[in-house]
Amino acid sequence: MAVVLGIETSCDETGVGIVADGLPAGEALASSMEEHARFGGVVPEIAARAHLESLVPCVRKAFADSGLTPSDVDAIAVTAGPGLATALQTGVAAAKAFALAWNVPLYGVHHLAGHVAADTLEHGPLPVRCVALIVSGGHTSLLLLDDLARDPIVHLGDTRDDAAGEAFDKVARLLGLPYPGGPAVSRVALEGDPHAIAFPRAMPGGYAFSFSGLKSAVARHVERGPVSVADVAASFQEAVVDVLTRKAVAACRDHGVGTLVVVGGVAANARLRELAAERCARAGVELRIPSPRLCTDNGAMIAAVGGLLYEAGEPACSLTLSVDPSAPLLRAALPRKD
Ligand code: KG4
Ligand code: ZN
Repeated sequence: MAVVLGIETSCDETGVGIVADGLPAGEALASSMEEHARFGGVVPEIAARAHLESLVPCVRKAFADSGLTPSDVDAIAVTAGPGLATALQTGVAAAKAFALAWNVPLYGVHHLAGHVAADTLEHGPLPVRCVALIVSGGHTSLLLLDDLARDPIVHLGDTRDDAAGEAFDKVARLLGLPYPGGPAVSRVALEGDPHAIAFPRAMPGGYAFSFSGLKSAVARHVERGPVSVADVAASFQEAVVDVLTRKAVAACRDHGVGTLVVVGGVAANARLRELAAERCARAGVELRIPSPRLCTDNGAMIAAVGGLLYEAGEPACSLTLSVDPSAPLLRAALPRKD
């Protein structure tokens, strides 16, 4: 049985998780979100300082939560990118120190592979071939996955401009709603009519996405003056989830794939979950979405990737591991071998 400690510090959440034999065993999460709220977005130096303060307490808490001790740990996994450079560095430095002190292998992990692996903590191993829709604050991608630990990741399509979560965050600002925008917009949207405003659905070719036109359409609508915030929020949300689910299901159908996994912060969105379930059921596609708590950034998802790499016998990385703030998603493990 492999016990892996995972550390995630790419943005504003300090996540530490312990995974034992592919199952969550203990976790701790600290967030500097409130310190960024008044700036309307994450301030990297504030995030990095908060990680420094929270890291060791979170590791202690995760151990206490699991009933395990450092001597039980077989490997350490850490997010090496993408993310904020100074924030990533705090996690990587801590992970190296633990790996050295406990004499266990260290695995650098791609943050987005962590989002995908989060689903395995709840629903077990992924089928050998599946389509993944990753919708986070910084990324929106449709992927064709084989063995997540061993095989290269095939990008079917990515966003050409804003990520889905970024669009939620920007529209929240336009509507005077707090950061982070996704939860705020979806809360307000509950009171609105999703069909009140016919916002554009950009459908660039293939499986690519584009959300900046939609964001501009919302801005123009708000400028024209008095609006129902609830109707704008609901109509905007409907436009985003309509495009996301339509393309994701088409990708499954076109590639003859029977499983769609939807992950990343925006996968916590209730309307996205509902529409994805509806459309997958109609298309005969199995839908896997981790519960909302596992959709947003956490340490267990990084430990889950570490567990897969360890079990697959993938080589560990050296203590010279450095962060890669704009790492493309080519494989689950970092550093990339291209
Ligand atoms: O994956 P994540 O926690 O961090 C990144 O890796 O970016 O995703 C954060 C993003 C933010 O843009 C946030 O507004 C969005 O996920 N988000 C949501 C919801 N909860 C978080 N978007 C829509 N609806 C939600 N309920
Ligand atoms: Zn994330």
